[in-house]
Amino acid sequence: VTTELLDSYGRVARDLRVSLTDRCNLRCEYCMPAEGFDWLPTPQVLSDAEVIRLITVSVEQLGIREVRFTGGEPLLRKGLERIIAATTALRTDQGETPEVSLTTNALGLEHRAKGLAEAGLRRINVSLDSLDRATFAELTRRDRLPDVLAGVQAAAAAGLKPVKINAVLMRGLNDDEAPELLAWALRHGFELRFIEQMPLGPPEAWERGAMVTAAEILAALRTRFTVTPHDPAERGAAPAERFTVAPSGDLPGGTVGIIASVSEPFCAACDRTRLTADGQVRACLFAREETDLRGLLRGGASDEEVAERWREAMWGKKAGHGIDDAGFLQPARPMSAIGG
Ligand code: GTP
Ligand code: 5AD
Ligand code: SF4
Repeated sequence: VTTELLDSYGRVARDLRVSLTDRCNLRCEYCMPAEGFDWLPTPQVLSDAEVIRLITVSVEQLGIREVRFTGGEPLLRKGLERIIAATTALRTDQGETPEVSLTTNALGLEHRAKGLAEAGLRRINVSLDSLDRATFAELTRRDRLPDVLAGVQAAAAAGLKPVKINAVLMRGLNDDEAPELLAWALRHGFELRFIEQMPLGPPEAWERGAMVTAAEILAALRTRFTVTPHDPAERGAAPAERFTVAPSGDLPGGTVGIIASVSEPFCAACDRTRLTADGQVRACLFAREETDLRGLLRGGASDEEVAERWREAMWGKKAGHGIDDAGFLQPARPMSAIGG
């Protein structure tokens, strides 16, 4: 029997985001300091079997229908293919295969895309903030743009479609690249989404007034493209507002998205629940509390007990992130530990 993950505002979580590691092989300025963080000690990280058990409980008892693997960098997790295969072997409350997706920086994807597709992965979102090698190296603190581009091509070749590209613009770094990124994405048939930077990385990396806003991004795109918003009724719980881009010159048309988490929060429609690499449930990216499932698992709890604790965790979900509220405090753990 399924009793879904309901919160006190009436929202139902159908989408599970699982962080498989807090580690990463890039050091994006908006996400991590140059020296990285104090990584979770291995014994605290869920084993493959523990991750699979929690996903199974979420799908079979809690009504989860979509599972996204994130990090840190999920490709750093050796058991990724095995975890994906176990997830796609499950059946949702509607009798279907859960939709399994991955958000990655694409390093190493060139050699794993095919195997991931064979394991049952449906689609992929790749973080890529600049197409200029020097800017990419400055922003990510690693000179790896060619590897990322090879990874993206391999994903498309392996049939992981649609390939979505996530770009965070930072003022003075890559904020002049919006039209160029869109031209590149249209040429390759990728769906580009611009993301407003959120206060989830090094505290000094985010300033409300300096953030590149959705309105600004749209204005920059409109200097070169004709973009028309989709019908808001089609959006559902998706973070991205989508736009149709008209063909121009030698470029085909396509779709672009803007994820305005800060200037136009979409919390009222949120359908997400999160599991950290160390087995904590977070009702929201910006939640103050975490609920420990790892301790329950390792203490011998039944699936029913785990499911009940998960339901309790979600019932307490706040109405929204409150970034613009007086006295807002950034969560104690960064995005890489929470699971973007
Ligand atoms: P699809 O559109 O279904 O492919 O997924 P997605 O956009 O939810 O996933 P992705 O992992 O690519 O995330 C893109 C951006 O949206 C990231 O910056 C996420 O942190 C942000 N995002 C995803 N889920 C949430 C959320 O629940 N709240 C907020 N505020 N931002 C989110
Ligand atoms: N604000 C907005 N987006 C972020 N991401 C990582 N950190 C932040 C942040 N502070 C993005 C990554 C990735 C996605 C999961 O979240 O670029 O594409
Ligand atoms: Fe959902 Fe929290 Fe994200 Fe808002 S900030 S959309 S409530 S996870």
